[in-house]
Amino acid sequence: MRDFFKWVTKMKIKFKLNGVVTEVEVEPHETLLNVLRDKLKVKSVKYGCGVGECGSCTVLLNGKPVTSCLVLAAKVDGYEVVTPDYIAQTHVGKIIIDAMLEEGAIQCGYCTPGFLTTIYAAITKGIRNIEDVKRALIGNICRCTGYINVLKAVKKILSETK
Ligand code: FES
Ligand code: FES
Repeated sequence: MRDFFKWVTKMKIKFKLNGVVTEVEVEPHETLLNVLRDKLKVKSVKYGCGVGECGSCTVLLNGKPVTSCLVLAAKVDGYEVVTPDYIAQTHVGKIIIDAMLEEGAIQCGYCTPGFLTTIYAAITKGIRNIEDVKRALIGNICRCTGYINVLKAVKKILSETK
């Protein structure tokens, strides 16, 4: 009987992960963050607060930045997910990382994947204004560098992605 309930509570989802069709079995309570990190071994997505407040678990879901700790994995069936490790290899991703390194916007680096993902989404969406990028970053918290150096990096990124 126990095995029967185990069966009915699990479901297989299929979604695109960084452009690759991916199938994984999930349980109803599992978050996208847990499934990415624990089942699919995508460690670039970071577990910070677990309650949607720090932004370290940010991924792109159908092109929009979301905190993956607040998304149920079962809901992602049929969607497209892009993670920071993939973004880091893109042209724009490299510009963002270089600028953050040059401006001292990275210390421990724990928040960096989230910042990278949010800034990437803003830039590729065509946002060209520092104030709009600031607004986009409202859900990303950095405990080390503060935000001055991040904003200096964003200015550089905006000038290099014209
Ligand atoms: S771990 Fe998801 S917002 Fe903090
Ligand atoms: S660099 Fe350490 S939390 Fe941001």
